[in-house]
Amino acid sequence: MVIRFQERDGRRLFMRSYRNSKFYQPNKAFVLEKIIALVIYRISRFKYISLRLKYAGEIGDFSSFIFLHFGKVKLRLSREGIWRDIESQLQETVIFLEFGVASGYLTQWWLDPERLSLREIDFSYHGFDTFYGLPSQWRDFPVGTFSTDGLVPQINHDRLTFHVGLVENTFSDEFVRSINISSQLVIFFDLDLFEPTRFVYERIRALLSIGDVIYFDEARDKDEREILQEYVMRDFEVKPISASYSNIALLVTSKLINH
Ligand SMILES: C[S@@+](CC[C@H](N)C(=O)[O-])C[C@H]1O[C@@H](n2cnc3c(N)ncnc32)[C@H](O)[C@@H]1O
Repeated sequence: MVIRFQERDGRRLFMRSYRNSKFYQPNKAFVLEKIIALVIYRISRFKYISLRLKYAGEIGDFSSFIFLHFGKVKLRLSREGIWRDIESQLQETVIFLEFGVASGYLTQWWLDPERLSLREIDFSYHGFDTFYGLPSQWRDFPVGTFSTDGLVPQINHDRLTFHVGLVENTFSDEFVRSINISSQLVIFFDLDLFEPTRFVYERIRALLSIGDVIYFDEARDKDEREILQEYVMRDFEVKPISASYSNIALLVTSKLINH
């Protein structure tokens, strides 16, 4: 709530100071805007270019969201860079929860035997997926995208458990009750879709505490962004660990009063 007011005030303040500045020339700004709009209109006839422009707009929006809410944030060019930053935040006992595993790239990265950070800690790793891909369309991706035909990734690790099925069934009350809340939680949200992500968040929010890590793999997209902005940020104060053009990792720093 508070953040929204700040955001609005921030925008108003910026407009006011821009209009009062010597750079503000209404007529020129208007002409320039028209030229840019015309160029965009022309080149957007090509699907490839219009998609690129759409993504560029989303990246711009994501970056301005980060800047407005958190100020300057460590920028990484890849999600692996963000995961490395998460490594430096790990505590002695950690429960990793990965929602949306697909072929297990992220899981494999973390459970790589060479990963030194995990050698020094006590941890368990839980991956949740149907392994039949997206249950409904998301963006331009049809139902079934990311499917492995039900095959669970071949990752042999004694601390790893896969929970196969819809999270709405597998992330059960029983499982939630079994989570040891004195452990640090490191949560990877990568279900892409709004509904299952909200389902998981609503279940896990009561267990979250200071020092836990929440990672959104598609924070640039409206679905995960809404969970971050309208759910997580209303319940907790969070500090970005780092971000890329699409992903963000956050550290829970306090619970807000309405939680
Ligand atoms: C983008 S992929 C995950 C990629 C993986 N985290 C990685 O980085 O390698 C998204 C996955 O979410 C899974 N998924 C989406 N909705 C789900 C639901 N309601 N229950 C279980 N899995 C779901 C899909 O099956 C898909 O494999």
